[in-house]
Amino acid sequence: MKLLEIRNISKAFGGVLAVNRVSFNLNQGEVLGLIGPNGAGKSTLFNIITGIFKPDTGTIRFNKRDITGIAPYKICQSGIARTFQLVKPFSRLTLLENVMVGRAYGGQPARNIRQARMESAQILALTGLGNKRVRVAGMLSLVDRKRLEIARALATRPQLLLLDEMMAGLNPAELDDAIQLIKAIRDSGISLIVVEHVMKVIMGISDRVIVLKVGEKIADGTPHEVARDRQVIEAYLGEKPLC
Ligand SMILES: Nc1ncnc2c1ncn2[C@@H]1O[C@H](COP(=O)(O)OP(=O)(O)O)[C@@H](O)[C@H]1O
Ligand SMILES: [Mg+2]
Repeated sequence: MKLLEIRNISKAFGGVLAVNRVSFNLNQGEVLGLIGPNGAGKSTLFNIITGIFKPDTGTIRFNKRDITGIAPYKICQSGIARTFQLVKPFSRLTLLENVMVGRAYGGQPARNIRQARMESAQILALTGLGNKRVRVAGMLSLVDRKRLEIARALATRPQLLLLDEMMAGLNPAELDDAIQLIKAIRDSGISLIVVEHVMKVIMGISDRVIVLKVGEKIADGTPHEVARDRQVIEAYLGEKPLC
């Protein structure tokens, strides 16, 4: 079943065409990898899907409903959550309080504070932060701040989770943990779009991969197909090899 339908989406900033007539579908239960060199338009596409930017052209349908241009909080309540490339926790709140904010708002908010606290503690345990829940978010290490960002997004009970470069700067052991976490999220029934530069990760977790280059979609297929695509290899020349 189609969960997300992106049709002909474009967005320009002044003279820069950041996203250029991009279309794709995401099926229920799928993990979609979104890759492309820096400046390809990946984060802009996330910002359009989550209502931060209005597209200049095109439509976005989620669960068959047109959500193009509606307010970010309404998109979150409809079941789409995201993380930010630059993580943005409430620095002075504890981890538990940060996640409780997500349980209080979002699509299916907790009925009361007690329930929000209990469910938030469960989400922190899932993301490997259970024993740090009373710490203040501003004091966390990079890897834990990224986990908290995912925990806060999960707290809104999404059907679709958009992850924007969650793995930049992680060491190999932390990368393996992050891959396991993404798989656990998928196994819980949440669909994902994952923007990532670490090709081992993208190729390992994605059912399908889409490649953007200066705003345009240049490839859409299985990880195997995309890694062998001539245009994709050319787009990455001078960058890291694909596998
Ligand atoms: N808020 C903005 N204002 C002006 N230009 C922007 C803005 N956001 C992104 N851009 C430009 O749009 C292009 C795509 O950026 P971005 O979506 O961040 O790429 P990616 O996430 O793939 O690295 C870049 O040229 C970038 O400079
Ligand atoms: Mg980006």
